[in-house]
Amino acid sequence: MPRRPLVAGNWKMNGFIASLAEVAAMATAYDAALKRKVELIICPPATLIGLALEVATQGGVGLGAQDCHLSESGAHTGDISAKMLKDVGASYVIVGHSERRAEHGETDRIVQAKAAAALCAGLTPIVCVGETRAEREAGAALSIVGRQIEGSLPADAPGTIVVAYEPVWAIGTGLTPTPADVAEMHKFAREQIEARLGGGKSESIRILYGGSVKPANAPELMAVENVDGALVGGASLKAIDFMAIAEAYR
Ligand code: PGA
Repeated sequence: MPRRPLVAGNWKMNGFIASLAEVAAMATAYDAALKRKVELIICPPATLIGLALEVATQGGVGLGAQDCHLSESGAHTGDISAKMLKDVGASYVIVGHSERRAEHGETDRIVQAKAAAALCAGLTPIVCVGETRAEREAGAALSIVGRQIEGSLPADAPGTIVVAYEPVWAIGTGLTPTPADVAEMHKFAREQIEARLGGGKSESIRILYGGSVKPANAPELMAVENVDGALVGGASLKAIDFMAIAEAYR
C-alpha cells in the first residue's frame, strides 16, 4: 500500500472567525482530482476547530489541533484534552512541536504521553521532531532526531500515526535543508521509527517535512524519497499559498 501524502497546515496562534473564509476557499479549491492525490488538513487554534468543522469537512478538508493535555480530564486550568478536541471535530493533533518543546518545556516523555492520550481519544498524533541549528552544526542532527523518535513515540503506537521532521532552524526562517539532507534524515527517521515500533509499521507511517515550506520549494521537497507530505506554518494561513503547496501533488 503506497502512503497517501498528507499536507497539514499549522496556523499556530493565528486566526479569527473571519479566517474561516480561508478554510472555505481551501475546501472549494480541493477538487476531486486533488483529493485522489493528497490528504489535506488544517490545524487552527482550538478556538476555531468547532467553528471550522462544517465548512472544512463539507469540502473534504480534515481538522487537527496543535496540542493536547496528556490527561483525559481533571484539574488542569487552561488545558484541553484530546477527547475534547475529538468532540469538536478534530481528527489529528500535533504533539511535540518545537515551539511547545521550547516554550513549555515539553520533554520527549511528555510528548510521548500526549501522543498516547491522542491515540486513546481516537485522534491521530502528528509527532514533531527536529534538531536546532547548533545541533546540526555539531553534526548531531541524526542522533538528536533518533533520540526524539525513540523517546516521543509510544512503543505500541499503530502504523497510522504521523511523524513530522521539522528542523528548528528552518521554522519561520525561510531556510530549508538541501533535498539531500532531507533525504538522509527521512530515510534515517523511517529506520528509527521501525526500530522503535517494529512489525513493519514504519512502512505505512507518513513522515512529513516541515520548516519554511512554500509554493516555490514544495515540488522539490515533496519529491524527496521518504517525504510523505508537509507540515506548513506561515504559508498555510492563506488558501492561495496552502493550495499552491498541495498542488505539488497534482
Ligand atoms: P513555517 O512553520 O512553515 O512557518 O516555517 C512550520 C511549522 O512550525 O510547523
